Amino acid sequence: MPSDFDTFVFDAYGTLFDVYSVRLAADRIYPGRGEALAKLWRDKQVEYTRLISLADPAGTHGSRHYMTFWEITERALDFSLRALGLDASTKSQSELMAQYERLSAFPEVLPVITKLHKAGHQLFILSNGNQAMLDKAVTSAELSGLFHRVIGVDALRQFKIMPAVYDLIFQANPVSRERVLFISSNGWDVLGANWYGLNTFWVNRQGLPFESLGPSPRFESKDLNGVLTLT
Ligand code: LAC
Repeated sequence: MPSDFDTFVFDAYGTLFDVYSVRLAADRIYPGRGEALAKLWRDKQVEYTRLISLADPAGTHGSRHYMTFWEITERALDFSLRALGLDASTKSQSELMAQYERLSAFPEVLPVITKLHKAGHQLFILSNGNQAMLDKAVTSAELSGLFHRVIGVDALRQFKIMPAVYDLIFQANPVSRERVLFISSNGWDVLGANWYGLNTFWVNRQGLPFESLGPSPRFESKDLNGVLTLT
């Protein structure tokens, strides 16, 4: 059966790259506190993108308070260390940021992406990350050359779930909406893409209920292998 979709757009952090994989490094520096730190760090990082978006959604040159996702990640780490009463010295922060620069990809990512690429589909990453950060992550996860384009938001200076970010898909690739499948493990990102009007696939890695704000994703699976059933 021919696929309904020929353009597959992936979120990056949490979907391809395991943001909680930093907990191992964090546990080495702060024994027993790695998990709490990884969780608060991620939550703060996402919260900061929202604060920046809310304060000034779409000035002519993007949000007035825009800073790159890399800088936001640093600030979120600094906050989280201080909030948890952990040593926030430059050395520990640099070690953790170095780890963040080369996050592990989830185990099924490389085989699934390789299969989709070989089948001739157009593959994109659309992330709140900035280009330099995304390029490094893609390279260290050995995914180079498999994506048609890796789209960050630094030129736009806005973050998902601002609709202008999802517009970037169609600026990069003029295709009709029905042919596009947007794939994310982040419920909030799937919701944003639903509101925007995309077909969505929720990679429910944590076995969570979907957001209590509808509409629900069109497809759901516990990892990326589920995407292959649609091709
Ligand atoms: C992304 C996030 C924030 O856009 O998961 O990659």
